[in-house]
Amino acid sequence: MIAVLKRSFVEGEVEVSGAKNAFFPAVACGIALGAKKIKIRNVPKIKDVFVMLEILRELGCSFEFRDEGKELIIFSERIQPRDFSPELFGKIRGSVVIFGSLLSRFGFAKIPMPGGCKIGERPIDQHIKSARAFGFYVEESGGFFVAKGKTSRNVSFTFDIKTVTGTENAILMAIRSKAEINNIAIEPEVQELISYLKRYGVNIRREGDRVLIDGKEDLVCDEVEFELIPDRIEASTWLVLTASVGGRLKVKNVIFEHIEYVLKVLSNCGAKISLAQNSVEIESSDVYEPADIVADSFPAFPTDVQPQICVMLLKSKGISRVVDKIFPNRLSHIDELVKMGAKIELKGGEIIIYPSKIFGSSIRALDLRGAAALSIAGLMAESNSTYLSGFDFIQRGYENFVEKLRSIGGSIEVFEDDKISHFSKESEKMKIEQESKEIFNYVSYTS
Ligand code: EPU
Repeated sequence: MIAVLKRSFVEGEVEVSGAKNAFFPAVACGIALGAKKIKIRNVPKIKDVFVMLEILRELGCSFEFRDEGKELIIFSERIQPRDFSPELFGKIRGSVVIFGSLLSRFGFAKIPMPGGCKIGERPIDQHIKSARAFGFYVEESGGFFVAKGKTSRNVSFTFDIKTVTGTENAILMAIRSKAEINNIAIEPEVQELISYLKRYGVNIRREGDRVLIDGKEDLVCDEVEFELIPDRIEASTWLVLTASVGGRLKVKNVIFEHIEYVLKVLSNCGAKISLAQNSVEIESSDVYEPADIVADSFPAFPTDVQPQICVMLLKSKGISRVVDKIFPNRLSHIDELVKMGAKIELKGGEIIIYPSKIFGSSIRALDLRGAAALSIAGLMAESNSTYLSGFDFIQRGYENFVEKLRSIGGSIEVFEDDKISHFSKESEKMKIEQESKEIFNYVSYTS
């Protein structure tokens, strides 16, 4: 899928959808608790969610959306640990939490390697290590991880590194145990999982980056109901987009504490930020102060906003430095920005960003947040339009991105790849751009 983007200013308001990365632990929590019905409100209609639903179907669940799509009901009474299609399981990373939830509920799980965006090494050694610490026997064979056993009591486990889905899995495995887990990730999605469990009777509490559980072995719930928190990465993306392309925007449905670091960076750089009830208003500036940013575990600056902020920092009046400690190789956007005219160097693990003007070009996104960052670049670029291929990645994590962007004045058209095979020459691009509506079968990305 190709997006054609043109220089735009934005104005108006957007409403943030439910959080992608809160959906997976919500589902896993329902499974681990033994629920026959898992009701989840505020579920974003994005590709990663639909892939997860397909995986659940393979496990024996069915589902339906109710209340005009606002509520998803997963019927999980017939769920059983079955073989998954590795291809489906490997499409997303969030699927990995099925491991902890099945082990917790059935004492057995067999999963292929999870996938997700290609943003560097994404091993699951910590997930396996925690399963072993909780008393499960785990072996890897033929591309599958097979685990079985019963959760031990009185377990103390310490993660070697902070891992979000690893923490979610360990907590899920421990809900019927007496356990202490140290060095946990405390991203809002993990905190939500802890509060869901608390609500359904698990004696669990967090103290800093440690969680203490005193679970009951006979724990079971018939029905669970969750409401997803707003997506902090989507909120941050709209804020950074506005600061980059220029304009004024009200971003609604935001939890301030979840995006505090991003707000601090934007405001230190010179964007005007004001907070109202559950919403943030931002007004851009023509030029920004440079910044030194280290993307790290929550509450630090999120790695999932690293690509987007790199684009904004091109508008700084000095040199900015960005280090991504979580995914140091999350760099696919950099070459593309350089193609657009950006001066960016990669040195000693740092992304060094010089003040630069960027110009419309043909570029390619290779992952979800890269697609968001390069869309921002296309809306910010001077002179020609930007032809962004690989735009489909956006559908993995942003609900109605195109519609929301258009509603605030962003100029974007989206085409299926096979309709535009001759996008290579600039003149042809211009022609296509003018005649696109008649010649090509325009496809809205939500269709
Ligand atoms: N890591 C290991 N071993 C493990 C697990 C992780 O070495 O067993 C390393 C990873 O390679 C990485 C670091 O630990 O360097 C942190 O990875 P983490 O496990 O926290 O990432 P994740 O759980 O796979 C989730 C989000 C990502 C987000 C990261 C970091 C979901 C489904 N995904 O991934 O979201 O970037 O946490 O915050 O929750 C996205 O939404 O675009 C996205 C990639």
